Amino acid sequence: MTPSDVKATLSFSDGSPAMDLPVYKGSVGPDVIDIRKLYAQTGKFTYDPGFLSTAACQSSITYIDGDKGELLYRGYPIEQLATNCDYLETCYLLLNGELPNETQKKDFTGLVTNHTMVNEQMQFFLRGFRRDAHPMAVMTGLVGGLSAFYHDSTDINNPEHREISAIRLIAKMPTLVAMAYKYGIGQPYIYPKNELSYAANFTRMMFATPCEDYTPNDVVVRALDRIFILHADHEQNASTSTVRLCGSSGTNPFAAIAAGVACLWGPAHGGANEAALTMLEDIQRAGGVEKIGEFIKQVKDKNSGIKLMGFGHRVYKNYDPRAKLMRETCHEVLDALGLQNDPLFKLAMALEKIALEDDYFVSRKLYPNVDFYSGIVQRAIGIPVSLFTAIFALARTVGWIAQLNEMIGDPEYKIGRPRQLFNGSVARNIKPIAQR
Ligand code: CMC
Repeated sequence: MTPSDVKATLSFSDGSPAMDLPVYKGSVGPDVIDIRKLYAQTGKFTYDPGFLSTAACQSSITYIDGDKGELLYRGYPIEQLATNCDYLETCYLLLNGELPNETQKKDFTGLVTNHTMVNEQMQFFLRGFRRDAHPMAVMTGLVGGLSAFYHDSTDINNPEHREISAIRLIAKMPTLVAMAYKYGIGQPYIYPKNELSYAANFTRMMFATPCEDYTPNDVVVRALDRIFILHADHEQNASTSTVRLCGSSGTNPFAAIAAGVACLWGPAHGGANEAALTMLEDIQRAGGVEKIGEFIKQVKDKNSGIKLMGFGHRVYKNYDPRAKLMRETCHEVLDALGLQNDPLFKLAMALEKIALEDDYFVSRKLYPNVDFYSGIVQRAIGIPVSLFTAIFALARTVGWIAQLNEMIGDPEYKIGRPRQLFNGSVARNIKPIAQR
């Protein structure tokens, strides 16, 4: 951390001594005020529910400028990565800090490819779930369950264990998501085929059956690969912070990533893609484009509890750059599949236009986020709505691992232990039950 020339001074109106706080500069982005000695010197905590003003760690992986609508992985703009690289190159970049050269790419792809199969016993574990279980419930269980199958890579403090568990998780997530899908629809699992690319292999495991040959569609494969790249990391969001906090206790990597999957499930986070598509389907059923005005009115009414899903972001106060790329992919996929007149896509574009002109959204800087269009792409590809968040989890796994490994390697890392402002009962004595 680079110290800044500026110092912050904290003073109190009750005459308690003032305290100087060091300020540090990052390579770009807001400076941070170091409050680590605050409690020791003043006996006071800071209060910041939702971490609106708190940097919980230092990181060199992903940078977001929310006002500009900029997203960089290791310094590379997301637009360049989405256009020039594939997902496994992006994984290599996030894990290692640099893009691979040709040999490194070949070796890394080979390594991931050689770990795509899961222990055969996993399918019996999966069979314990109800067939109609939500895929995210299944994924939370399966990912956590990996720690029961791969005992030789569970020591988070061992760099070799961290490396092998990283490769295993990246390689096995598509296999597990496809197995969860096939189980839900009662079809046989399709084993991975290692001659295919990461995304092509996933489409085959999802959509092939043992009865027929299957040739992956190039446009679909490209679209999925782009979805994976766009979701690969997003700095210290809720699920990543969950993974860091969970991993900070020294638990094994599979358990920490399972915690990330559980957190991602929520509709304010990864579950928003499912919620956004369900919302579009509801508006479509209620009458389509003509009902947008009525729907927007409900969204603006604070008592309705209705939000425009796929809109708004804690960090982006401008158009989410991933949403722009996703909209582009949406056009490509719908054109290639002959779905140019897809009513939900038309509805989404009309809804976006109306919202972007409405003062409620403009004044709050609410723009479409990545989930606004990703559901339409996935639905066009044939992925059921309930599986959307599991695909997000598949893609985000590399980001979670990169962040977890960065934390373990940080000499300043400690177990995460937030404090609280206690406003419950002060100490009191238990009365005998007859007197309570
Ligand atoms: N629809 C209607 N109003 C909204 C929305 C929305 N989607 N998002 C925020 N607002 C309003 C909110 O009611 C508040 O209004 P007011 O100032 O009058 O009280 C204002 O905008 C600020 O919102 P906030 O809740 O303080 O913002 P936040 O940073 O805490 O929440 C968010 C961010 C993403 C949780 C929220 O925008 C939201 O719930 N969006 C819908 C869900 C969604 O699309 N989530 C996906 C995020 S991107 C994918 C990912 O990273 O997981």
